[in-house]
Amino acid sequence: MSELAGKTIVLGVSGGVAAYKAAELVRLLIKAGARVHVVMTENGVRFVTPTTFQALSGNSVWTEAWDDRRANNMSHIELTRAADALLIAPATANILAKLANGLADDLLSTLVLARDCPLLVAPAMNKQMWGNPATQRNVERLRADGVAVIGPAAGEQACGEVGEGRMSEPVEIFEALAAFLQPKPLAGRRVLMTAGPTYEPIDPVRGITNISSGKMGYALARAFVQAGARVQLVSGPVSLPTPYGVERIDVQTAAQMHQAVMQHVGEADVFVGVAAVADYRPVDVAADKIKKAGELPAIRLERNPDILADVASLPAAPFCVGFAAESRDLDSYARGKLEAKRLQLVVGNLVQDGMGGDTNQVVLYDAWGSHPLPRASKREVAVGIVGHLVQLLATGG
Ligand code: CTP
Repeated sequence: MSELAGKTIVLGVSGGVAAYKAAELVRLLIKAGARVHVVMTENGVRFVTPTTFQALSGNSVWTEAWDDRRANNMSHIELTRAADALLIAPATANILAKLANGLADDLLSTLVLARDCPLLVAPAMNKQMWGNPATQRNVERLRADGVAVIGPAAGEQACGEVGEGRMSEPVEIFEALAAFLQPKPLAGRRVLMTAGPTYEPIDPVRGITNISSGKMGYALARAFVQAGARVQLVSGPVSLPTPYGVERIDVQTAAQMHQAVMQHVGEADVFVGVAAVADYRPVDVAADKIKKAGELPAIRLERNPDILADVASLPAAPFCVGFAAESRDLDSYARGKLEAKRLQLVVGNLVQDGMGGDTNQVVLYDAWGSHPLPRASKREVAVGIVGHLVQLLATGG
């Protein structure tokens, strides 16, 4: 189930080209089980018709301050009364200026003033308008007022220019909103993680690697962000998008992963090793591709460092979490890893049904015993793991 299921979102659409992307955002919100009420400014209506938003949201769209659909003519107060959040996407330079100054000259700006729910804005404008000191001043003032600002992104703009000001993609805005609405038990905590496989080259085109999609680690990074943590993710090669709010450091080999982890671990309160690290690497890496003609190559291997064990044995080690993917005897192997590496938590799973899927069934092992979690999507399992970790941290680990 999505974090936004059952939430009521009021979406404000102001007049920018990116209004067409707001249609996709409504679709994502509805798919996630949220209720969506769309409010459009006069200029917003020039870009996309209210009919589009009505069809996608399943609710009639609000465009006028004077609307007698509410008997008391108080739609500006009533619309946000039941809302969990008011999100304006796209938010033009003009609406940001109005909101920063508390103006209320149409339904959307009046709703903002009259709301008692959080406000998020996703700015969308030409790079010059975004860079203008007046806009920057307005955005700073909104931030100081507690408004969450999503984006903007940099890249190609509708006007043909390239720069900062483009509205964040709908999926990014969706993720930011989902994260925003979650409780923040890990606010102020720093989490360092590894995920994905490592790749140990043999020659320029071949290497040794492990099977790992990175999905579990990435889902966990997302859940940590949603719980309020600052997350650094040292990732082996995977084909996954970086979760919203995560600082990602890409590496290839176990040695590089080890180095990146050691560089950042000093700041971490929690370390989670999810990566499937190759235990061995070739001693020599051939500079040129090894040809099949000729002698059979002999590949001599040497051991890679154990990143998790090295972190756990640091003098001021963070709270350490390991993963144990086993094909049998999960209980004894997972407990063995908990003790041998001196970890606070091990997430164990049996790899009976292959790897790379979207669901997982895990058992959590800590000093108090074992705690099975039900089979669920990797996102839900990640939320379960973070919930357990929050409890352990609260009890002193
Ligand atoms: N790990 C690590 N560095 C390594 C190897 C593993 O950080 N060089 C971490 C993994 O990210 C995971 C845990 O250690 O959190 C896995 O424990 P480990 O006992 O090393 O698992 P395997 O390498 O699978 O060991 P074995 O083959 O003995 O089961």
